[in-house]
Amino acid sequence: MTHDTTHPLDDRNTDPKQIASEAAAQIAEKTGVAKHDIALTLGSGWAKAADLIGETVAEFPATEVTGFSKPAVEGHVGTIRSIRTASGQHALVIGARTHYYEDHGVRRVVHSVRTAAATGARIMVLTNGAGGLKESWQPGTPVLINDHINLTATSPLEGATFIDLTDLYSARLRDLARTVEPSLDEGVYVQFRGPHYETPAEVQMAGRMGGQIVGMSTALEAIAAREAGMEVIGFSLITNLAAGLGEPLSHAEVIAAGKDAEPVISKLLADVVNTITKD
Ligand code: HPA
Repeated sequence: MTHDTTHPLDDRNTDPKQIASEAAAQIAEKTGVAKHDIALTLGSGWAKAADLIGETVAEFPATEVTGFSKPAVEGHVGTIRSIRTASGQHALVIGARTHYYEDHGVRRVVHSVRTAAATGARIMVLTNGAGGLKESWQPGTPVLINDHINLTATSPLEGATFIDLTDLYSARLRDLARTVEPSLDEGVYVQFRGPHYETPAEVQMAGRMGGQIVGMSTALEAIAAREAGMEVIGFSLITNLAAGLGEPLSHAEVIAAGKDAEPVISKLLADVVNTITKD
C-alpha cells in the first residue's frame, strides 16, 4: 500500500467537495473556460476519442490539479483536456483514472467526477475496458451500461447520504447514443475490486446476479456523479470474454484489444458526445 500522507483527500478533516471546487477553479484558470458542459473519463481503449470530439483548448497533466494522483496503469493517459465541441459547448476530458484497487481510498477514486461536476458539467460520460459474459460480444465490441452491481462493498457517499440510483445510467442518453449507432447492445456492469481478474466461479456468480459485463471501475464513479446531480452515460469496451468463458486472460491482450478497437470506438464516442451537446 502506498499512502501519501500529504494528499489532501487522505485527511479525513477535509471536505472532498471543497477540494473538488478548488480543483475546478484551477481547471477554469488553466483552460480559460469558466464552465464546462459535459465531462468524460476515458478508460483503456477510449483515449483517442479526445482527438475527435472537437478543438482542444488546453491540455495539461492531471497531476497539476489539486487532488489528482498519478495513473498507476500503463495505457491510461494522465492528462486533463478542455475541448470545444462542434456546437461550441465545452467538454472536459479526464484521462487520469484512480482505481479503487490502487488502495488510495474511494475519495480519490471519485475526485475526478466531483471535480467535473464542480466545473459545471451536468453530464458525465464514463468509459472502461471490461470483460463480457455474452458470447456474441467479440473483443472490440462497445456496449452501453444500463445498470450496475457494485461488489466493492464501499460507497463514495459519506454519512447518511441516501441517493436514489434508479435510472442511474440515463435512458435518455442511451437513446441518444443509439441514434448514432443503432446496433449498440447494453448490459449490467459488475464492479469487482480487482486488481486480479475474476475467477470463472465469480464470473458465473456475476451472471446469475444479472450482470453481463465485469470490470474494476465505473460503478463508484457513477454513484458520485449521481450524488453531484449529473446525468450519467457509461460505455464498456469488451476487451475479452470474461474468465472461464474463453482463453485465459492477460493484461497485454486486454490492452491490445483496446488498441485495435480504438479508432472505431473513439469515433463512436466522439459522435455521441457531439449528438448529446448538439443543442
Ligand atoms: N475483468 C475485469 N476487468 C477487466 C476485464 C475482465 O475480464 N477485462 C478488462 N478489464
